[in-house]
Amino acid sequence: MTTVQLAGTRQLGDKQVFRMGYGAMQLAGPGVFGPPDNPEQAIEVLRLAIEQGINHIDTSDFYGPHITNQLIRQALHPYKKELCLVTKVSARRDDKGNWIPAMSESELTRAVEENLENLGLDQLDVVNLRSMYDVHKPAEGSLEGPLTTLLNLQSRGLIRHIGLSNVTPTQIKEALALTPVACVQNYYNLAERSDDALIDWLEQRNIPYVPYFPLGGFTPLQSDELSAVASELSASPMQVALAWLLQRSPNILLIPGTSKPAHLLANIDAAKLQLPQAYIERLNAL
Ligand SMILES: NC(=O)c1ccc[n+]([C@@H]2O[C@H](COP(=O)([O-])OP(=O)(O)OC[C@H]3O[C@@H](n4cnc5c(N)ncnc54)[C@H](OP(=O)(O)O)[C@@H]3O)[C@@H](O)[C@H]2O)c1
Repeated sequence: MTTVQLAGTRQLGDKQVFRMGYGAMQLAGPGVFGPPDNPEQAIEVLRLAIEQGINHIDTSDFYGPHITNQLIRQALHPYKKELCLVTKVSARRDDKGNWIPAMSESELTRAVEENLENLGLDQLDVVNLRSMYDVHKPAEGSLEGPLTTLLNLQSRGLIRHIGLSNVTPTQIKEALALTPVACVQNYYNLAERSDDALIDWLEQRNIPYVPYFPLGGFTPLQSDELSAVASELSASPMQVALAWLLQRSPNILLIPGTSKPAHLLANIDAAKLQLPQAYIERLNAL
């Protein structure tokens, strides 16, 4: 794979990563809980991603819980030195799979230790503090306490870089007063564009923006206009949605999630799709 085929590169922490990455959440079982129905296929997807040149994988120990990280370790350890593994903390799962906020000092410390253990690492490349003040909508609330915990863990050498997820501009500014921010990972795609201004603000500050649910997440994007554009460009709607994100800002890094090798390859191919301006305008109007 050449740089162009994976949409060029961007600095993430202290690694240079391709803008086309991979999100591992879909590798756990249904509802991101328990083991996958097809563990061999999960391993295949991870190895295929690396074979295709992907060097940015997004994960968390609360996927499964533990399962996704254990699959990553089984498939890819020892890791290539250029691979940037980004994880996130501040939630835990109860025995029914509910997502419970876990932002106290002891919970965050345990989460970092469990990520290290399950990934088989001595240090995590990037840890995103995932705000849990609201589930999929950034909501105000100070992050100083949990960030201080992560900074202490960083000073112990357990974390290399700190990022943020599900955060507001105010929380990003609060964090920037305490630490460099390696990346911001929020909910954003063709149909969910609340972060448009934030994306431009982060681009000016050279802080990578990583949209989660780039394809719509659990309910993948569907629209007649998206399908029409895709058909005119001989691409799939999912590929158009990814190409639109890549063209939205050079500062965007992609982590589309899939449990299927064929979907992984199709998503990677989206990096080669150049959307003419007239199509971008049609998609912007969705
Ligand atoms: N920070 C956060 O709070 C947060 C929240 C959610 C997710 N994330 C991260 O963001 C990553 C991406 O989000 P996501 O995986 O939830 O959602 P997504 O990338 O928007 O979409 C994944 C869904 O799209 C399907 N899909 C993927 N490629 C496809 C293709 N080429 N054709 C048709 N369907 C396709 C997948 O099903 P198949 O498995 O069948 O392909 C899955 O149902 C996650 O993996 C995770 O690492 C972070």
